[in-house]
Amino acid sequence: MKRGEKNNDLETAINQLKKQKNAVILAHYYQKGEIQDIADYVGDSLALAQWAAKTTADIIVLCGVHFMGETAKVLCPDKKVLIPDVNAGCSLADSCPADRFAQFVKEHPGYTVISYVNTTAAVKSVTDVVVTSTNARQIVESFPEDEKIIFGPDRNLGNYINSITNRNMLLWDGACHVHEQFSVEKIVELKAKHPDALVLAHPECKSTVLKLADFIGSTAALLKFATKSDAQTFIVTTESGILHEMQKQSPDKTFIPAPPNDSTCACNECSFMRLNTLEKLYHCLKYEHPEIEVDLEIAKKAVKPIKRMLEISEKLGL
Ligand code: 13P
Ligand code: SF4
Repeated sequence: MKRGEKNNDLETAINQLKKQKNAVILAHYYQKGEIQDIADYVGDSLALAQWAAKTTADIIVLCGVHFMGETAKVLCPDKKVLIPDVNAGCSLADSCPADRFAQFVKEHPGYTVISYVNTTAAVKSVTDVVVTSTNARQIVESFPEDEKIIFGPDRNLGNYINSITNRNMLLWDGACHVHEQFSVEKIVELKAKHPDALVLAHPECKSTVLKLADFIGSTAALLKFATKSDAQTFIVTTESGILHEMQKQSPDKTFIPAPPNDSTCACNECSFMRLNTLEKLYHCLKYEHPEIEVDLEIAKKAVKPIKRMLEISEKLGL
């Protein structure tokens, strides 16, 4: 089969299995286009958690990375949660080992612990409230200005939230290898070539990159902005999978993926997200494997800060 060609047999087989097994396919915007196209729901990290919490399906196939599968499992302990490739991890989640984070929390009594959703369930189990990039600002602002807060693990998102909320949260020193890779020089070069283009950036990018942005937001917020904007051209500074939905929603607009620093590659892909393929999705539905498992004791603690996030988001209409 040629690149870009549709695999109709595989798609038909996946749809049949999905029906037979009462399964739902949830996909993140960073998944390959063919996976986004077959999913029941495509969204950002917050939307994936919200859909998982609501679904009546018996099986959730989480086409994303491991922490997203864990979040779904913690919210739905009685459901089977599958992931096409169990090795789809996350460098940001890996930058925050649970034992070291727990020690850090212990060393700072009296601090409220806010963790980005890109963490393991074990990190969430020592967290007061989880946030995503869609709701981080509002959740931080829901605490009094003088609240002592630990924010982990993304130092770029933490710095950004500190700057827009005028807080001084204590930050864990973690980062995502994809978003850290964007290059100021290459974005400036692209801007010179496309002077009317607007720069859209995810808050996991470094502050030097965020300074160049016309709009900063989560994947869902970037998509919404691009769809509503009168501009015609956008330089997109996040994982390039989001371009699939941007282009679908605005077929006449031009979306240029911002390139990483250290390669000749034109766009920046998350190697973990891209481990999932249509073939692996088919196999995981057929054999109901690999399955996401979370230790029960950890899950019992981790569910509280996740539910707290969902409750606050609902109140805020997010
Ligand atoms: P959002 O989808 O919440 O913007 O998160 C981006 C991300 O890094 C997911 O891994
Ligand atoms: Fe993790 Fe970064 Fe990949 Fe998102 S893009 S899954 S934060 S490594």
